[in-house]
Formats: sequence, structure tokens, C-alpha cells
Amino acid sequence: MLILGIESSCDETAASVVKDCRTICSSVISTQIEEHKKYGGVVPEIASRRHCENILGVVRQALADADVTLNDIDAVAVTYAPGLIGALLVGVNFAKALAMSAGKPLVPVHHIAGHIATNYLTHPKLEPPYLCLVASGGHSHIIEVLSYTQFRVVGRTRDDAAGECFDKCARAMGFPYPGGVHIDNAAQSGDSSEFRLPHPVVAGNEFDFSFSGLKTSIINMIHNAEQKGIELNKNNLAASIQSTISEILTDKTIRAAEALGYKKIALAGGVSANSGVRAALSEACEKHGFEFYMPEKKLCGDNAVMIACQGSYNFLAGITADESLNAFATLSMEEI
Ligand code: KG4
Ligand code: ZN
Repeated sequence: MLILGIESSCDETAASVVKDCRTICSSVISTQIEEHKKYGGVVPEIASRRHCENILGVVRQALADADVTLNDIDAVAVTYAPGLIGALLVGVNFAKALAMSAGKPLVPVHHIAGHIATNYLTHPKLEPPYLCLVASGGHSHIIEVLSYTQFRVVGRTRDDAAGECFDKCARAMGFPYPGGVHIDNAAQSGDSSEFRLPHPVVAGNEFDFSFSGLKTSIINMIHNAEQKGIELNKNNLAASIQSTISEILTDKTIRAAEALGYKKIALAGGVSANSGVRAALSEACEKHGFEFYMPEKKLCGDNAVMIACQGSYNFLAGITADESLNAFATLSMEEI
């Protein structure tokens, strides 16, 4: 079974061919980061226009790299939610036209389910059920993966995502967009004990996150220091930010696993590339005797391999769409 996956939810236009759910035949990613860098973040209209210009070339390349033609493909899978609506619409419309004209089934894929699926590609033996922490630029979720296609959200962020917190703090520190990786690099030679940062307290669901208070307190600290002419040690601040975010994510995930009786934990999303988060969750799992899975670094950020992989499982479960498929900027995983 060969599935063509298409991803265009944010600033990466990507296409991939995956065989029998877990074998990567090709992966093409056209990133727009350099262009959005000038503005300090993704400009939605520019993102949509670049997807529009690049998508055909990216899909052609993915088919060529896999040494297949559209005829060999069993279904076309596409990210239809959540994300920037104009960006998603480009991918959805393209996939729809391609599938309908070639007489192939169209398979809708939720972007977060795609991130979770990166673990199947890295760990051939991993099977549901397990608990997954998904942390990206737009999402921070603790999710019960009940089966390949059924999910229950146990906790979510009430405000900013972990990646947003990394990126906005990085911007205040003078790093270019997207700043998460720069904080990661600076933290390597920093001491996390110099700055004591607040851990948010969230009322209600104990597995929900909140990162906006932490983000604001860090940005205020940086601006106050600037006004007083005090130079903060960037490496130490980066190490403190990274260890605080890692502790918050790890602590809630471990507590959720204990409360729900999961012994298998996975990590996914763009922030899963962060060395502090990877180490903290991996150590905590070892301490508690849990199995731990994380994607290889090249699959952490947005790509289409994850959409083709999850699309394969959706297709096997009979999840397909007709020509009325629409895109959604927000859509809970429980509604899919
Ligand atoms: O999953 P993703 O590529 O896009 C969304 O679905 O949002 O995640 C992008 C996020 C950005 O916030 C980026 O700064 C963050 O992942 N990120 C990192 C690292 N690499 C990517 N954050 C911290 N440390 C990293 N090494
Ligand atoms: Zn993503």
C-alpha cells in the first residue's frame, strides 16, 4: 500500500510517499522560514501564497524520489486541520483535485495525529494504546492514543503552546524566528540555577498547561534588565527557560500516566526536538519504569511523512473524504 501525504498547515509545504504504513519512500519539504524570519513570525498570507506556488513541484518531487507515478498510489492523504486556514486550504484543494482527477481515495489527516505518528516511523514495534505528549508551536496536549485512529485529550494548554513560549522568549532575547532551537543551543553552555522562574498553577483540570504567565514574566524580566542597562547571561537564562518548560511538560505527563495507568509514553511535535524536553521526559520515564518513545529529530518538525503514515492508518480504518472536504483552523482531536 502506497500513500501520498501532503502537508501545508503552517510554513512548510511538504509531500511524501510512505509504503505499508511505516516505510518512508520519499520526503520533500519546502520551508519558508527564511522569508518569515524578516517579520519575526509566520505571516499567514505569505504562507498561503508560497504553498500555492510550491505545492505542485513538491508533490512531483515526492513521487519522483519514491520512483512511482500517481497511478501507483493507493490514496492521497492531506492535513485538513488545525493550522492557518489559508495555508490548509491550499493543501486540501490541491489534494482533492489530485485525488478526484486520478480516481483515488482522499484521506483527511489531523495535524496532531500526524505528529503522533512520527513515533511509528522511528519505532517499528510501537503500537497503541499509550499516552503521548504533543508539544509544538501551536499545541501542547497530553493525549491518550487509544488506537491508531482514536484519541482522547487528557490535558491541553489554556493559552500559549510550549513552542510559542520558547519562540517569544527567544525573540525578546534577540534570537531570530523560530527561536526554540536557539534557546536549545544557548542552554547547552548555561547554568539553569541562576534564574528562578515561576511554575504556573492551573485550576480545574490538573493535566492542563498554561505558558502565557511564564512567557510574560520572562519577557518582563528581559525588558526590565534592558531598561536598567543590566546585561543578563543569555546562556543561563536559556538554560532556565528550557529546564522550566521541560519540568512542566514532564511533570504533568508523568502524573497523567500514573493517574490513567499508562506504562508507555511517547513524545511528539516540533518541541520534541528540544534536548532538555527529550532528556527530562526520558529520565522521568526511566525512573518510573515506563517505556519511552520519541521521534528521531528530523521527524519532529512539520513534514509530510507523518501525514502519509497517519493517512495510511486512517485509510485502513476506512476514514476517507469526498469532494466536500473542508479545512478547519481549529478542530479537537476528539471530533475527528
Ligand atoms: O510542530 P511544529 O514544526 O509546528 C507546529 O505544528 O506548530 O513546531 C514548531 C515549534 C516552534 O515553536 C519551534 O521553535 C519549536 O517547535 N522547536 C523547538 C526546537 N525545535 C523546534 N523548540 C525548542 N527546542 C528546539 N530544539
Ligand atoms: Zn506541527
